[in-house]
Amino acid sequence: MLDLGIWSFRAARQYCDVKAAKSIVLIGMMGAGKSSVGRCLQQRTGLARLDTDEMVAAQFGIPIAQIFEKHGEERFRIAETDVLRKLAPERPAIVVTGGGIVGSAENLDLLKRLGTVVWVTADEATLFERASRRNDRPLLQKENPRAVFSKLFRERESLYAAAADLRVDTSALTHDEVAETILNRLEEVAALQQ
Ligand code: S3P
Repeated sequence: MLDLGIWSFRAARQYCDVKAAKSIVLIGMMGAGKSSVGRCLQQRTGLARLDTDEMVAAQFGIPIAQIFEKHGEERFRIAETDVLRKLAPERPAIVVTGGGIVGSAENLDLLKRLGTVVWVTADEATLFERASRRNDRPLLQKENPRAVFSKLFRERESLYAAAADLRVDTSALTHDEVAETILNRLEEVAALQQ
């Protein structure tokens, strides 16, 4: 335990010292744990956390589910891209995104411009089970949410893969362990990118 603690501290400190010029951008399906992992990364690095869903909800002044209900998904997607455009690449942060953000080519470019893109994932059944714990996800408030989820999962897999610099399987890890894994593996990514 003690060793893990010291190592985690080192990983976080090294990240802040050496690569503070880049944001960490979390992508992945609903239920991947992006928000919780984002909070752990925020704590470990001291960087600001920006959540595109929270920013869109703040812009409309209502929760995401109500945005879908009142204005439709298309309006939500436009606002999501607007928010991404406004994020400044030169200001490093932990950027948490909604699961559908990889749906447009412009978004993919914007994500990559922001920093190191980390695909947080697990097997489909695990993701669905986690995503279903909350009932505020408009895309799953359908007659057959399992089938909807499966379709989105299949459609998005290749998009996440195309966008990501790093893929982390969260199936057997706590949120904090995922954060630690990301910080440690960013070393490898940085070395490859040099
Ligand atoms: C969506 C995922 C949600 C939110 C919106 C649409 C999606 O975010 O952006 O409900 O298309 O997968 P989370 O991935 O944080 O649940």
